[in-house]
Amino acid sequence: MAERDELIRFGVSFPAPLIEQFDQYIEDQGYTNRSAAIRDLVRRSLLEPSRLSSDELVAGTIVMVYDHHISELPMVLMELQHQFHHDIISTMHVHLNHAQCLEVIVVRGNVSNLRSLHQQIQVQNGVFYAELSVTYADDQGSSEHGHVHDHT
Ligand code: NI
Repeated sequence: MAERDELIRFGVSFPAPLIEQFDQYIEDQGYTNRSAAIRDLVRRSLLEPSRLSSDELVAGTIVMVYDHHISELPMVLMELQHQFHHDIISTMHVHLNHAQCLEVIVVRGNVSNLRSLHQQIQVQNGVFYAELSVTYADDQGSSEHGHVHDHT
């Protein structure tokens, strides 16, 4: 088996129009070479919700924006966070404007718990936006990282 930090080279064939689009994309994203861009895309793909097993230990954030004027919503969101207190490390609350609150919940736990918390947040009336973003948090200290996007 290959060493963890060993780089493996391999050839990839692209249709010409696709590689032109890809080169434009990676330039727009600030990459200086194709390899780094492809590695990031692969890492992101491997962290798609369908790829992560439900008992995987991950850490990340749930970012949400909601209207605190909606009756009961602040209480419901707080109650949910108490239910999941084992999976929540910290919460930051920002009063965006007169009506809207931004909350960043830092989470660490197994994927199924975090998905459950995220889903219960995003279905609440008055939650405009909720996104779960995770990275592996196993004991190996893997550097893989990416996002699980779920927009309301
Ligand atoms: Ni607020």
